[in-house]
Amino acid sequence: MINGTTRLFGIIGNPVAHSLSPIMHNAAFKTLGLNAVYLPMQPKNLDEGYRGLRALGFVGVSVTVPFKVAIMPLLDQIDPVARKIGAVNTLLFHQDAHGSTLCTGSNTDWIGSNRALETEIDLSGSTVLILGAGGAARAIGFGLVEAGATILVHNRTETKGRKLAAQLGATSVPDQQLADIRADVLINTTSVGMSPNHQALPINPKLLSHFSVVMDIVYAPLETALLREAAACGCRTVDGLQMLLHQGTAQCSLWTGQEAPLAVMRQALLLELSSRGTAPAPGT
Ligand code: ATR
Repeated sequence: MINGTTRLFGIIGNPVAHSLSPIMHNAAFKTLGLNAVYLPMQPKNLDEGYRGLRALGFVGVSVTVPFKVAIMPLLDQIDPVARKIGAVNTLLFHQDAHGSTLCTGSNTDWIGSNRALETEIDLSGSTVLILGAGGAARAIGFGLVEAGATILVHNRTETKGRKLAAQLGATSVPDQQLADIRADVLINTTSVGMSPNHQALPINPKLLSHFSVVMDIVYAPLETALLREAAACGCRTVDGLQMLLHQGTAQCSLWTGQEAPLAVMRQALLLELSSRGTAPAPGT
């Protein structure tokens, strides 16, 4: 029941109409018994939108494309890993000793990918091949640095792959060396395999036996062609919902100070995806 003391949360991005975050976070708030609501918001202008959030007393806000980098100069504080990644996906509004509002930006994408992978493997000392060198690869890559993994980067555009590899202290893998790579983990951070091109593969499936764990960040469809082929090769797989889920539970805990109800949040996401026709119905 929304009333005069309901606490405000939400997501800013463009577009946000298909965001799964409102479904995940509102399910969490309900389970935690909190008088709180999480809203999708699509500001035309980021500066005005951000000032609006401050003025209206929002407590926590998720930030998505295209604002993750552009919002950084507007914030009062930025956490060190988000600063290294160069992108913020989480805002926490709080009061300083004088009652003024301060906003701290952080990044839970790297926490989400680390926790998703750690359901299958201990990352410390593992070798991980990242496919892609965009924003998602950066967040995942810096997360792997935090976890103590050895990182390899392969990207369609090799110059971009080399640049990210240098920033991560990683090794760049050109096309002609890809077949020689053996690693504990393979992560697809590109959009290859996303509906409607759901048959597309980001790597030659003959190479999948070179990895123990394969994670895809694409979650529509939930079982991508990559994950299907990887499972057929005997790899353990981590689907794209896991990273979304774990970055969301990290946000929920930060904002509420409580342990996030992970199972409820995953069920809410699965129900929504199945109603969109991109995942089997939960429990089936
Ligand atoms: P995001 O923020 O989701 O990571 P991005 O910053 O646009 O998105 O990065 C997209 C990544 O997917 C890039 O590494 C891109 O490769 P290029 O640097 O060569 O553009 C990769 N990518 C996108 N489509 C691809 C495709 N069809 N084949 C291979 N890589 C692709």
